[in-house]
Amino acid sequence: MKINNVLQINSSINNESGNSYILSKEFTTKLTSAQLKKGIKTNLVERDLVKDELPHLTQAEMAAWMTPETERTDEQSQLANISDTLVAELQNMDTLVIGMPMYNFGIPSTFKAWIDRVARAGITFKYTEQGPVGLLEGKKAIIVAARGGMYQGTPKDTQTHYLKDVMAFIGITDVQFIYAEGLNMPAKEEQLALTRDAIDNIVESLV
Ligand SMILES: Cc1cc2nc3c(=O)[nH]c(=O)nc-3n(C[C@H](O)[C@H](O)[C@H](O)COP(=O)(O)O)c2cc1C
Repeated sequence: MKINNVLQINSSINNESGNSYILSKEFTTKLTSAQLKKGIKTNLVERDLVKDELPHLTQAEMAAWMTPETERTDEQSQLANISDTLVAELQNMDTLVIGMPMYNFGIPSTFKAWIDRVARAGITFKYTEQGPVGLLEGKKAIIVAARGGMYQGTPKDTQTHYLKDVMAFIGITDVQFIYAEGLNMPAKEEQLALTRDAIDNIVESLV
């Protein structure tokens, strides 16, 4: 049986009641069931950056990456293991599903801490004469962006371009967004219905 390895990243401070979590979960559940109908098994791995309390990147952690494995102290091995684990999850997946809350006009700080762990020179990107080249290949990302207000297509949407750039930097150029906007506005239910239509359409296009 064909297998699709899906990695779902959660960074809502509201955990399972977060809109970004609920909608990402709906996406992965629908994807799993649509794939099964086509004879594809889904292996879903969930990584919750809030429950993990992923800390800010430090110089000591970067120094641990630079130290050859056999020369690392116990503390350096533990520090290097944080990034190594997150990078391995990316390397092993085919489809990345990111639940993306907007907090204070940007991405959650825990998600930034995740980016700081997975952008690794020589592992997920390298610099060439022509500039940076991403080293993750043949993967796609679906980003489920949940927002209290409405920003899509305006300069206030600080997430879309940034996340496309970051993904491309590590080699993931096939990136699609599903927006759930206006969730703190009176028309929340209408907006959620639009989001669910988008989820259905993208699942259908992927399977
Ligand atoms: C600390 C915090 C900051 C927020 N800042 C913004 C913001 O800048 N713009 C916005 O549209 N919504 C903002 N919101 C609303 C969230 O984007 C909205 O509640 C969304 O559902 C968050 O995703 P979550 O439910 O998965 O946590 C903020 C919410 C919180 C808790």
